[in-house]
Amino acid sequence: MIIIKENYSIKPHNTLGIDVKARYFTKTETLDELKEVLEGYREYFPFLIIGEGSNILFTRDFNGIIIQPAITGVTIIENDSEHCIVEVGAGENWDDFVNWSVENKLGGIENLSLIPGSAGSSPIQNIGAYGVEVKDVIHSVKYLDLETFETVTLLNHDCQFGYRNSIFKNHLKNRFVIYSVVFSLCHNPVFNTSYGNLQAEAEKSGELNLQTMRDAVIRIRRSKLPDPKVIGNAGSFFKNPVVEVALSDQIRVKYPQMPSYPVSEEFVKIPAGWLIEQCGWKGKRTGKAGVHEKQALVLVNYGDASGTDIYDLAMKIRDSVFTEFGIRLEPEVNII
Ligand code: FAD
Ligand code: EPU
Repeated sequence: MIIIKENYSIKPHNTLGIDVKARYFTKTETLDELKEVLEGYREYFPFLIIGEGSNILFTRDFNGIIIQPAITGVTIIENDSEHCIVEVGAGENWDDFVNWSVENKLGGIENLSLIPGSAGSSPIQNIGAYGVEVKDVIHSVKYLDLETFETVTLLNHDCQFGYRNSIFKNHLKNRFVIYSVVFSLCHNPVFNTSYGNLQAEAEKSGELNLQTMRDAVIRIRRSKLPDPKVIGNAGSFFKNPVVEVALSDQIRVKYPQMPSYPVSEEFVKIPAGWLIEQCGWKGKRTGKAGVHEKQALVLVNYGDASGTDIYDLAMKIRDSVFTEFGIRLEPEVNII
Protein backbone atom coordinates (compact mmCIF):
# COMPACT_ATOMS: atom_id res chain seq x y z
CA MET A 1 0.00 0.00 0.00
CA ILE A 2 1.28 3.45 -0.89
CA ILE A 3 1.44 5.86 2.04
CA ILE A 4 2.16 9.49 1.21
CA LYS A 5 3.46 11.57 4.11
CA GLU A 6 2.96 15.31 4.01
CA ASN A 7 5.23 18.04 5.35
CA TYR A 8 7.63 15.32 6.40
CA SER A 9 11.06 15.79 8.05
CA ILE A 10 13.72 13.88 6.13
CA LYS A 11 16.29 14.11 8.90
CA PRO A 12 16.19 10.30 9.38
CA HIS A 13 16.62 9.84 5.61
CA ASN A 14 19.97 11.63 5.17
CA THR A 15 23.17 10.62 6.95
CA LEU A 16 24.29 14.24 7.34
CA GLY A 17 21.22 14.57 9.59
CA ILE A 18 19.98 17.80 8.00
CA ASP A 19 16.51 18.67 9.23
CA VAL A 20 14.56 19.78 6.16
CA LYS A 21 11.03 18.96 5.12
CA ALA A 22 9.64 17.33 2.01
CA ARG A 23 6.20 18.50 0.92
CA TYR A 24 5.47 14.80 0.22
CA PHE A 25 7.45 11.65 0.99
CA THR A 26 6.74 8.05 0.09
CA LYS A 27 8.33 4.61 -0.17
CA THR A 28 7.41 2.39 -3.09
CA GLU A 29 7.74 -1.35 -2.60
CA THR A 30 7.11 -2.53 -6.17
CA LEU A 31 7.74 -1.28 -9.68
CA ASP A 32 3.99 -0.80 -10.15
CA GLU A 33 3.79 1.37 -7.02
CA LEU A 34 6.74 3.40 -8.27
CA LYS A 35 5.01 3.98 -11.62
CA GLU A 36 1.72 4.84 -9.91
CA VAL A 37 3.32 7.51 -7.71
CA LEU A 38 5.28 8.99 -10.59
CA GLU A 39 2.19 9.07 -12.81
CA GLY A 40 0.17 10.78 -10.09
CA TYR A 41 2.70 13.42 -9.07
CA ARG A 42 5.39 14.14 -11.60
CA GLU A 43 3.29 16.40 -13.83
CA TYR A 44 2.45 18.66 -10.90
CA PHE A 45 5.46 18.57 -8.58
CA PRO A 46 9.22 18.31 -8.73
CA PHE A 47 10.34 14.86 -7.60
CA LEU A 48 13.51 13.39 -6.14
CA ILE A 49 14.50 9.75 -5.87
CA ILE A 50 16.56 8.82 -2.82
CA GLY A 51 18.17 5.67 -1.49
CA GLU A 52 19.45 5.94 2.10
CA GLY A 53 20.56 9.57 1.75
CA SER A 54 24.23 8.86 2.43
CA ASN A 55 25.50 10.95 -0.47
CA ILE A 56 23.08 13.89 -0.40
CA LEU A 57 23.27 17.37 1.12
CA PHE A 58 19.89 19.06 1.45
CA THR A 59 20.25 22.84 1.60
CA ARG A 60 16.52 23.64 1.88
CA ASP A 61 13.03 22.17 2.11
CA PHE A 62 11.97 20.15 -0.92
CA ASN A 63 8.73 21.52 -2.34
CA GLY A 64 7.77 18.35 -4.18
CA ILE A 65 7.73 14.61 -3.65
CA ILE A 66 10.66 12.52 -2.45
CA ILE A 67 10.35 8.86 -3.46
CA GLN A 68 12.39 6.08 -1.90
CA PRO A 69 12.32 2.92 -4.03
CA ALA A 70 12.07 0.23 -1.34
CA ILE A 71 11.99 -2.71 -3.76
CA THR A 72 13.72 -5.64 -2.04
CA GLY A 73 14.88 -9.15 -2.87
CA VAL A 74 18.14 -11.00 -3.53
CA THR A 75 17.59 -13.61 -6.25
CA ILE A 76 20.13 -15.97 -7.79
CA ILE A 77 19.33 -16.03 -11.49
CA GLU A 78 22.26 -18.11 -12.77
CA ASN A 79 24.90 -20.22 -11.09
CA ASP A 80 27.77 -22.18 -12.62
CA SER A 81 31.11 -23.44 -11.37
CA GLU A 82 32.73 -20.01 -11.72
CA HIS A 83 30.05 -17.32 -11.37
CA CYS A 84 26.86 -16.62 -9.56
CA ILE A 85 24.59 -14.01 -11.14
CA VAL A 86 22.42 -12.29 -8.53
CA GLU A 87 19.65 -9.72 -8.97
CA VAL A 88 19.27 -7.33 -6.05
CA GLY A 89 16.31 -5.00 -5.47
CA ALA A 90 17.22 -1.29 -5.38
CA GLY A 91 15.98 -0.95 -1.80
CA GLU A 92 18.25 -3.61 -0.31
CA ASN A 93 20.89 -2.18 2.01
CA TRP A 94 24.29 -2.39 0.30
CA ASP A 95 26.24 -3.75 3.26
CA ASP A 96 23.58 -6.39 4.03
CA PHE A 97 24.11 -7.61 0.48
CA VAL A 98 27.90 -7.65 0.96
CA ASN A 99 27.41 -9.65 4.14
CA TRP A 100 25.09 -12.07 2.28
CA SER A 101 27.74 -12.54 -0.44
CA VAL A 102 30.46 -13.30 2.13
CA GLU A 103 28.22 -15.74 4.03
CA ASN A 104 27.46 -17.50 0.74
CA LYS A 105 31.17 -17.66 -0.15
CA LEU A 106 30.74 -15.42 -3.18
CA GLY A 107 33.62 -13.06 -3.90
CA GLY A 108 33.96 -9.67 -5.56
CA ILE A 109 32.48 -7.11 -3.18
CA GLU A 110 34.15 -7.90 0.16
CA ASN A 111 36.39 -4.79 -0.21
CA LEU A 112 33.22 -2.68 -0.50
CA SER A 113 32.10 -3.69 3.00
CA LEU A 114 30.43 -1.10 5.23
CA ILE A 115 29.78 1.46 2.48
CA PRO A 116 26.46 3.03 3.49
CA GLY A 117 23.50 3.25 1.13
CA SER A 118 21.26 1.08 -0.95
CA ALA A 119 22.15 -1.43 -3.66
CA GLY A 120 20.17 0.63 -6.17
CA SER A 121 22.46 3.64 -5.74
CA SER A 122 25.69 1.67 -6.06
CA PRO A 123 26.08 2.03 -9.87
CA ILE A 124 25.25 5.75 -9.94
CA GLN A 125 28.62 6.97 -8.68
CA ASN A 126 30.26 3.56 -9.19
CA ILE A 127 31.00 3.14 -5.47
CA GLY A 128 34.57 2.21 -4.72
CA ALA A 129 36.93 1.48 -1.87
CA TYR A 130 40.13 -0.40 -1.11
CA GLY A 131 41.13 -1.01 -4.73
CA VAL A 132 37.72 -2.24 -5.94
CA GLU A 133 34.88 -0.47 -7.76
CA VAL A 134 31.38 -1.86 -8.09
CA LYS A 135 31.72 -1.74 -11.89
CA ASP A 136 34.07 -4.74 -11.53
CA VAL A 137 31.08 -6.93 -10.56
CA ILE A 138 28.05 -5.26 -12.14
CA HIS A 139 26.48 -7.37 -14.85
CA SER A 140 23.62 -4.97 -15.68
CA VAL A 141 21.42 -2.24 -14.26
CA LYS A 142 17.62 -2.25 -14.58
CA TYR A 143 15.82 1.08 -14.57
CA LEU A 144 12.56 2.76 -15.41
CA ASP A 145 13.13 5.30 -18.18
CA LEU A 146 11.23 8.42 -17.16
CA GLU A 147 10.84 9.70 -20.73
CA THR A 148 9.40 6.55 -22.27
CA PHE A 149 8.09 4.99 -19.01
CA GLU A 150 9.57 1.68 -20.26
CA THR A 151 11.90 -0.56 -18.27
CA VAL A 152 15.45 -0.80 -19.63
CA THR A 153 18.31 -3.22 -18.90
CA LEU A 154 21.68 -1.57 -19.41
CA LEU A 155 24.66 -3.91 -19.66
CA ASN A 156 27.86 -3.06 -17.81
CA HIS A 157 29.78 -1.84 -20.88
CA ASP A 158 26.99 0.64 -21.70
CA CYS A 159 27.02 2.23 -18.22
CA GLN A 160 30.12 4.35 -19.01
CA PHE A 161 31.61 3.69 -15.59
CA GLY A 162 34.54 5.82 -14.43
CA TYR A 163 35.95 7.04 -11.12
CA ARG A 164 32.84 8.09 -9.11
CA ASN A 165 31.03 8.41 -12.43
CA SER A 166 28.62 6.68 -14.79
CA ILE A 167 26.03 7.38 -17.48
CA PHE A 168 23.53 7.94 -14.64
CA LYS A 169 25.38 11.12 -13.62
CA ASN A 170 25.59 12.38 -17.20
CA HIS A 171 23.52 11.39 -20.23
CA LEU A 172 20.73 9.74 -18.17
CA LYS A 173 20.69 12.30 -15.33
CA ASN A 174 17.11 12.94 -14.05
CA ARG A 175 15.79 10.40 -16.53
CA PHE A 176 15.87 7.11 -14.67
CA VAL A 177 14.86 5.23 -11.55
CA ILE A 178 16.94 2.14 -10.86
CA TYR A 179 14.78 -0.70 -9.55
CA SER A 180 17.34 -3.51 -9.47
CA VAL A 181 21.01 -4.25 -10.12
CA VAL A 182 22.42 -7.56 -11.38
CA PHE A 183 25.84 -8.59 -10.06
CA SER A 184 28.25 -11.27 -11.24
CA LEU A 185 30.01 -12.70 -8.17
CA CYS A 186 32.61 -15.45 -8.27
CA HIS A 187 33.08 -18.76 -6.50
CA ASN A 188 36.89 -18.59 -6.60
CA PRO A 189 37.77 -15.05 -5.58
CA VAL A 190 41.16 -13.46 -6.07
CA PHE A 191 41.68 -11.17 -3.09
CA ASN A 192 42.68 -7.58 -3.78
CA THR A 193 44.93 -6.45 -0.94
CA SER A 194 46.74 -3.73 -2.90
CA TYR A 195 45.30 -0.71 -1.04
CA GLY A 196 47.22 0.82 1.88
CA ASN A 197 47.58 -1.45 4.90
CA LEU A 198 44.80 -3.86 3.87
CA GLN A 199 47.14 -6.84 3.38
CA ALA A 200 48.68 -6.41 6.85
CA GLU A 201 45.28 -5.85 8.47
CA ALA A 202 43.74 -8.93 6.82
CA GLU A 203 46.70 -11.12 7.77
CA LYS A 204 46.15 -10.28 11.44
CA SER A 205 43.37 -12.89 11.38
CA GLY A 206 45.70 -15.56 9.95
CA GLU A 207 44.21 -17.01 6.81
CA LEU A 208 43.00 -14.75 3.95
CA ASN A 209 39.39 -15.49 3.13
CA LEU A 210 36.24 -13.53 2.32
CA GLN A 211 35.31 -13.07 5.97
CA THR A 212 38.79 -11.97 7.10
CA MET A 213 38.96 -9.52 4.17
CA ARG A 214 35.54 -8.11 5.09
CA ASP A 215 36.50 -7.83 8.75
CA ALA A 216 39.79 -6.09 7.89
CA VAL A 217 38.04 -3.52 5.65
CA ILE A 218 35.48 -2.88 8.38
CA ARG A 219 38.22 -2.35 11.01
CA ILE A 220 40.14 0.08 8.78
CA ARG A 221 36.99 2.01 7.88
CA ARG A 222 35.88 2.26 11.53
CA SER A 223 39.31 3.60 12.51
CA LYS A 224 39.11 6.49 10.01
CA LEU A 225 35.54 7.30 9.10
CA PRO A 226 32.89 8.66 11.46
CA ASP A 227 29.80 6.48 11.94
CA PRO A 228 26.85 8.49 10.57
CA LYS A 229 24.67 7.10 13.37
CA VAL A 230 26.92 8.90 15.84
CA ILE A 231 27.99 11.95 13.88
CA GLY A 232 26.30 13.17 10.72
CA ASN A 233 28.39 12.92 7.54
CA ALA A 234 28.21 11.85 3.91
CA GLY A 235 31.62 10.20 3.51
CA SER A 236 34.06 12.01 1.22
CA PHE A 237 32.58 15.41 0.46
CA PHE A 238 34.75 15.96 -2.63
CA LYS A 239 36.18 13.66 -5.29
CA ASN A 240 39.92 13.14 -5.41
CA PRO A 241 41.05 15.49 -8.20
CA VAL A 242 42.72 14.15 -11.31
CA VAL A 243 45.27 16.72 -12.53
CA GLU A 244 47.92 17.03 -15.22
CA VAL A 245 51.34 15.68 -14.29
CA ALA A 246 52.79 19.14 -15.06
CA LEU A 247 50.63 20.74 -12.34
CA SER A 248 51.49 18.07 -9.77
CA ASP A 249 55.22 18.49 -10.57
CA GLN A 250 54.84 22.22 -10.01
CA ILE A 251 53.10 21.69 -6.62
CA ARG A 252 55.76 19.17 -5.62
CA VAL A 253 58.44 21.88 -5.75
CA LYS A 254 56.87 23.41 -2.62
CA TYR A 255 55.38 20.16 -1.23
CA PRO A 256 57.84 17.34 -2.07
CA GLN A 257 55.91 14.92 0.19
CA MET A 258 52.59 15.25 -1.68
CA PRO A 259 51.03 11.79 -2.27
CA SER A 260 49.71 11.02 -5.77
CA TYR A 261 48.62 8.00 -7.80
CA PRO A 262 49.19 7.64 -11.56
CA VAL A 263 46.04 7.56 -13.69
CA SER A 264 47.71 7.66 -17.13
CA GLU A 265 50.93 9.06 -18.60
CA GLU A 266 49.49 12.57 -18.50
CA PHE A 267 47.33 12.53 -15.36
CA VAL A 268 47.67 11.79 -11.65
CA LYS A 269 45.13 11.59 -8.84
CA ILE A 270 45.84 13.57 -5.69
CA PRO A 271 44.09 12.78 -2.40
CA ALA A 272 41.74 15.70 -1.69
CA GLY A 273 42.06 14.92 2.04
CA TRP A 274 45.76 15.75 1.86
CA LEU A 275 45.12 19.06 0.01
CA ILE A 276 42.46 20.05 2.56
CA GLU A 277 44.72 19.10 5.48
CA GLN A 278 47.59 21.24 4.07
CA CYS A 279 45.21 24.21 4.05
CA GLY A 280 44.78 23.78 7.79
CA TRP A 281 41.18 22.52 7.81
CA LYS A 282 41.57 19.13 9.46
CA GLY A 283 39.62 19.02 12.74
CA LYS A 284 38.43 22.65 12.27
CA ARG A 285 34.93 23.58 13.29
CA THR A 286 32.73 26.52 12.20
CA GLY A 287 29.62 26.57 14.36
CA LYS A 288 27.85 23.21 14.08
CA ALA A 289 29.68 22.18 10.91
CA GLY A 290 33.21 20.83 10.86
CA VAL A 291 35.98 18.85 9.22
CA HIS A 292 36.54 15.40 10.68
CA GLU A 293 39.66 15.16 12.84
CA LYS A 294 40.85 11.86 11.32
CA GLN A 295 39.84 12.40 7.67
CA ALA A 296 39.91 15.92 6.25
CA LEU A 297 37.77 14.88 3.26
CA VAL A 298 34.77 14.22 5.50
CA LEU A 299 32.59 17.14 6.59
CA VAL A 300 30.55 16.55 9.72
CA ASN A 301 27.41 17.84 11.39
CA TYR A 302 28.16 18.34 15.09
CA GLY A 303 24.50 18.81 15.99
CA ASP A 304 21.84 20.78 14.30
CA ALA A 305 23.89 22.29 11.47
CA SER A 306 21.81 23.41 8.52
CA GLY A 307 22.50 22.34 4.97
CA THR A 308 23.81 25.81 4.19
CA ASP A 309 26.23 25.65 7.17
CA ILE A 310 27.76 22.52 5.61
CA TYR A 311 27.63 23.98 2.10
CA ASP A 312 29.27 27.28 3.14
CA LEU A 313 32.08 25.38 4.89
CA ALA A 314 32.57 23.21 1.79
CA MET A 315 32.86 26.29 -0.43
CA LYS A 316 35.40 27.92 1.91
CA ILE A 317 37.46 24.73 1.76
CA ARG A 318 37.17 24.59 -2.02
CA ASP A 319 38.29 28.22 -2.33
CA SER A 320 41.30 27.80 -0.05
CA VAL A 321 42.46 24.65 -1.89
CA PHE A 322 42.14 26.55 -5.18
CA THR A 323 44.11 29.51 -3.85
CA GLU A 324 46.93 27.34 -2.51
CA PHE A 325 47.16 24.66 -5.21
CA GLY A 326 45.25 25.92 -8.28
CA ILE A 327 43.05 22.81 -8.07
CA ARG A 328 39.25 23.17 -8.05
CA LEU A 329 37.69 20.40 -5.97
CA GLU A 330 34.46 18.92 -7.27
CA PRO A 331 31.82 17.76 -4.78
CA GLU A 332 31.12 14.04 -4.68
CA VAL A 333 28.02 14.64 -2.58
CA ASN A 334 24.80 15.46 -4.47
CA ILE A 335 23.74 18.95 -3.43
CA ILE A 336 19.97 19.56 -3.48
P1 FAD B 1 21.52 8.56 -1.86
O1 FAD B 1 22.48 9.40 -1.10
O2 FAD B 1 20.15 8.41 -1.32
O3 FAD B 1 21.44 9.07 -3.36
C1 FAD B 1 22.60 9.35 -4.10
C2 FAD B 1 22.17 9.85 -5.50
O4 FAD B 1 21.55 8.80 -6.23
C3 FAD B 1 21.14 10.97 -5.46
O5 FAD B 1 21.40 11.83 -6.55
C4 FAD B 1 19.80 10.26 -5.65
O6 FAD B 1 18.84 11.10 -6.27
C5 FAD B 1 20.20 9.11 -6.57
N1 FAD B 1 19.45 7.84 -6.39
C6 FAD B 1 19.48 7.06 -5.29
N2 FAD B 1 18.79 5.92 -5.51
C7 FAD B 1 18.31 5.98 -6.78
C8 FAD B 1 17.56 5.10 -7.60
N3 FAD B 1 17.12 3.91 -7.16
N4 FAD B 1 17.26 5.48 -8.86
C9 FAD B 1 17.67 6.70 -9.33
N5 FAD B 1 18.41 7.57 -8.61
C10 FAD B 1 18.72 7.22 -7.34
N6 FAD B 1 31.00 5.99 -1.41
C11 FAD B 1 31.96 5.28 -2.05
O7 FAD B 1 31.94 5.17 -3.28
N7 FAD B 1 32.98 4.69 -1.36
C12 FAD B 1 33.09 4.76 -0.02
O8 FAD B 1 34.01 4.20 0.56
C13 FAD B 1 32.09 5.49 0.68
N8 FAD B 1 32.16 5.61 2.03
C14 FAD B 1 31.19 6.31 2.69
C15 FAD B 1 31.28 6.39 4.08
C16 FAD B 1 30.32 7.08 4.81
C17 FAD B 1 30.43 7.15 6.30
C18 FAD B 1 29.24 7.69 4.12
C19 FAD B 1 28.17 8.39 4.89
C20 FAD B 1 29.14 7.62 2.73
C21 FAD B 1 30.13 6.93 2.01
N9 FAD B 1 30.09 6.84 0.60
C22 FAD B 1 31.03 6.11 -0.06
C23 FAD B 1 29.02 7.50 -0.16
C24 FAD B 1 27.72 6.67 -0.25
O9 FAD B 1 27.75 5.59 0.63
C25 FAD B 1 27.47 6.15 -1.67
O10 FAD B 1 27.44 7.20 -2.60
C26 FAD B 1 26.17 5.37 -1.78
O11 FAD B 1 26.10 4.67 -3.01
C27 FAD B 1 24.93 6.26 -1.65
O12 FAD B 1 23.80 5.42 -1.52
P2 FAD B 1 22.42 5.98 -1.01
O13 FAD B 1 21.42 4.88 -1.20
O14 FAD B 1 22.53 6.52 0.34
O15 FAD B 1 22.16 7.12 -2.10
N1 EPU C 1 45.12 12.03 3.50
C1 EPU C 1 45.68 13.04 4.24
N2 EPU C 1 44.91 13.65 5.20
C2 EPU C 1 43.63 13.29 5.43
C3 EPU C 1 43.05 12.26 4.67
C4 EPU C 1 43.81 11.63 3.70
O1 EPU C 1 46.84 13.38 4.07
O2 EPU C 1 43.01 13.89 6.32
C5 EPU C 1 45.94 11.36 2.47
C6 EPU C 1 46.88 10.30 3.01
O3 EPU C 1 48.06 10.39 2.26
C7 EPU C 1 46.22 8.99 2.62
C8 EPU C 1 45.51 9.36 1.33
O4 EPU C 1 45.11 10.72 1.52
O5 EPU C 1 47.14 7.99 2.43
C9 EPU C 1 44.29 8.52 1.01
O6 EPU C 1 43.41 8.53 2.14
P1 EPU C 1 42.33 7.40 2.35
O7 EPU C 1 42.94 6.06 2.18
O8 EPU C 1 41.59 7.68 3.60
O9 EPU C 1 41.38 7.57 1.09
P2 EPU C 1 40.74 8.84 0.40
O10 EPU C 1 41.41 9.05 -0.91
O11 EPU C 1 40.65 10.00 1.31
C10 EPU C 1 39.05 7.38 -0.95
C11 EPU C 1 37.59 7.42 -1.24
C12 EPU C 1 36.81 6.82 -0.08
C13 EPU C 1 37.26 5.37 0.11
C14 EPU C 1 38.76 5.36 0.41
C15 EPU C 1 39.32 3.95 0.50
C16 EPU C 1 37.20 9.27 -2.73
C17 EPU C 1 36.65 10.65 -2.89
N3 EPU C 1 37.15 8.77 -1.50
O12 EPU C 1 39.26 8.27 0.14
O13 EPU C 1 35.44 6.81 -0.42
O14 EPU C 1 36.57 4.76 1.18
O15 EPU C 1 39.46 6.04 -0.68
O16 EPU C 1 39.37 3.38 -0.77
O17 EPU C 1 37.62 8.67 -3.71
C18 EPU C 1 33.49 8.15 -0.35
O18 EPU C 1 33.52 8.13 -1.60
O19 EPU C 1 32.56 8.73 0.29
C19 EPU C 1 34.54 7.50 0.40
C20 EPU C 1 34.62 7.50 1.72
